Amino acid sequence: MTVQPPPGASQDAARLRPRRSCMAVPGSNPRFLEKAQGLPADQVFLDLEDACAPLAKPEARHTIVKYLNEGDWSGKTRVVRVNDWTTEWTYRDVTTVVEGAGAHLDCLMLPKVQDAGQIHALDLLLTQIEKTMGYEVGRIGIEAQIENARGLVNVDEIAGASPRLETIVFGPADFMASINMKTLVVGEQPPGYPADAYHYILMRILMAARTHDLQAIDGPYLQIRDVDGFREVAGRSAALGFDGKWVLHPGQVDAANEVYSPSQEDYDHAELILDAYAHYTSEAGGKKGSAMLGDEMIDEASRKMALVVSGKGRAAGMRRTTSFQPPEA
Ligand code: GLV
Ligand code: MG
Repeated sequence: MTVQPPPGASQDAARLRPRRSCMAVPGSNPRFLEKAQGLPADQVFLDLEDACAPLAKPEARHTIVKYLNEGDWSGKTRVVRVNDWTTEWTYRDVTTVVEGAGAHLDCLMLPKVQDAGQIHALDLLLTQIEKTMGYEVGRIGIEAQIENARGLVNVDEIAGASPRLETIVFGPADFMASINMKTLVVGEQPPGYPADAYHYILMRILMAARTHDLQAIDGPYLQIRDVDGFREVAGRSAALGFDGKWVLHPGQVDAANEVYSPSQEDYDHAELILDAYAHYTSEAGGKKGSAMLGDEMIDEASRKMALVVSGKGRAAGMRRTTSFQPPEA
């Protein structure tokens, strides 16, 4: 079954949302809900799933509605993680939160996604609520967490299941449990394996995400006092092309923002390539298909690579420190 794009889906804007640091905030904890508002995280997600005890969930739904409506989340993407479809909680999570605070919510995160049908179900429920409440249909996005073997095997169909999808998110803790990986330290390499045990999983998620023009987000690192360890693990997924990572503690926010932003040098270089390419392909620059920028040959493929880096830098608010000077004619 293919769900048709809802009218008015503002996907381009959604795709450009910065998500270098995605802060997990337990929905049942008002102290954390207060504190998170002042942190420089790109995204917050208010959690009704695993950071929220089963008996606390009903009240946490209302606490989240209150904090979404009354809090100051400016500059942040606002997400709520609901419970997965195998529980009895999902529909009430969605109806309570979206009916109560849909106007102040950007996305729902669906955990433990196993197939495209689970995304369709959330898409349809959201559409009904949007129509009932008079909200713009299709504005609220979906983030899909891949947290078990079945989800990973089906990740391509999941990533293409709805135009509401904005990101595919790796959930390492549940995933490691699902495949019996032999370590309890989330995100760290299992002892005795000589290569990167996460490479295949991360690449699989990244390919599915990019195939459907979605962002790819890495999951949590639970040793919250070990910021160097966080940087190292984040550096691996950033190097592959991931857009950001969960943060569980204020101490991880700056590190994530830095690791998933381009360096100043790369950002300047990307902007130079874009300017130089625009010049050389123009009438004034000789309508060339490829040209030299210093010692480097640039062409259309260089422009595409530069666009990615410059897009990330601009989204992160970076300023260029160099400018392109066309050679004298
Ligand atoms: C996050 O939800 C995880 O399971 O790592
Ligand atoms: Mg999980």
